[in-house]
Amino acid sequence: MARYQAPRGTQDVLPEDQAYWQWVLGLAREIAGRYGFQPIDVPVFEDTEVFARGVGTGTDIVEKEMYTFKDRGGRSLTLRPEFTAGIVRAYIEHGMRVRPQPVKLYAIGPVFRYEAPQAGRYRQHTQFSCECIGEADALADFEIMSIAWDLYAALGFQEVQFQLNSIGCQHCRPPYIRDVLVPYLQSRINELSKIDVERLQKNPLRVLDTKEPESQPVVAEAPPITEHLCAECRDHFAQLRFYLDMLERPYELNPRLVRGLDYYTKTVFEVTAAGLGAQNAVGGGGRYDGLVEVLGGPPTPGVGFAAGIERIVLVLKAQGTTPPPLPAPRVYFVHHGSPAKDAAVALADQLRHSGIGALVAFGNRSMKSQMRQASKSSARYVVIIGEEELSRGEVQVKDLQTGQQVAVRQAELVQWFQNLFAQHPPQ
Ligand code: HAM
Repeated sequence: MARYQAPRGTQDVLPEDQAYWQWVLGLAREIAGRYGFQPIDVPVFEDTEVFARGVGTGTDIVEKEMYTFKDRGGRSLTLRPEFTAGIVRAYIEHGMRVRPQPVKLYAIGPVFRYEAPQAGRYRQHTQFSCECIGEADALADFEIMSIAWDLYAALGFQEVQFQLNSIGCQHCRPPYIRDVLVPYLQSRINELSKIDVERLQKNPLRVLDTKEPESQPVVAEAPPITEHLCAECRDHFAQLRFYLDMLERPYELNPRLVRGLDYYTKTVFEVTAAGLGAQNAVGGGGRYDGLVEVLGGPPTPGVGFAAGIERIVLVLKAQGTTPPPLPAPRVYFVHHGSPAKDAAVALADQLRHSGIGALVAFGNRSMKSQMRQASKSSARYVVIIGEEELSRGEVQVKDLQTGQQVAVRQAELVQWFQNLFAQHPPQ
């Protein structure tokens, strides 16, 4: 056993898994770009207040899952548990409201939550987060959901399911909670689990998406918030569903979906796919019309979503999808004798500087052993340089796939490979 291991809930992404990652992240960037989103990077840590206020003090994330620490100057800092609050902080700090609205931003990077590690749930995970700030139109909600849709479709996901709900706004949600939900839950408080009785005091809306088996019959019959929306929220929700229906994006209305972050208003959604337990979403998001104001900016609407990259990779593996391979050298030099090795070093240098990846056998092992190494490498073509080839100013190029071998002049080797690879690009 190794003396040191990666901390609990974290993982190394080894070279053999990188093809999945590069493929997913490349597609994410490309699709975000098609919708006019621009990349942004924000710090890995922020003032604790940004998340405490942004995500909400009554949430599991803020109460139990944040990595919060004092720096040497006594400031309370927190490793980001998500991107949205930090991106909104940057939007305000850099006066982005004077730019053409909405400002569409995406970020990719690690986020940190002190959760109980299990399959698909880590303490450090990677998000692709898209934020559209400064637009109230339901079309913005549709476009955000569409980015998610396009990404999962491009990856060939099966059984993609969108769960959709509207949780109203500052006008219609408080009266729903106060006059409808709380009295209902209180009338059946004896049937709720202990955790849900606590939630009822602190954050009653969250009782709706409880995972506690005991509470299920109670929440199943709870009066849905969608029947208590104000006219504006109702119209907004109807307009979003209109776009989803028009473009035939399948979704399921789930009046119990509320999500674990306090900033949401109106739209909330979550995405699941075949290959992950139903409890594990591959993405989720929603509208946050109050967040800019909560963090000290002017009233500004916003909507966004984030996808978890580790979970996407798990789905790809479970569904048996292989990513396109990463580029790797296709040429391997084997050599016999010191002058031949020097020639190999110089020729490999020329190839690399012409954009062709090349490997040179290290050391001075036998040709047979170097050939064995070549066959274990990514290379399909072996360039053989012995004393005889050297004296003729030539090399032998062997195609490991077909076994064919040809003599090529050293001075023409770069051109020869350029022609070959133009005709046979890597599969
Ligand atoms: P979230 O639902 O908390 O939303 O996280 C987004 C996605 O990150 C999840 O759907 C899941 O794929 C992944 N994820 C979350 N926690 C973990 C974990 N412990 N291990 C592995 N993957 C995980 C947000 O973070 C919001 N900021 C999304 C958003 C953006 N809403 C508006 N804009």
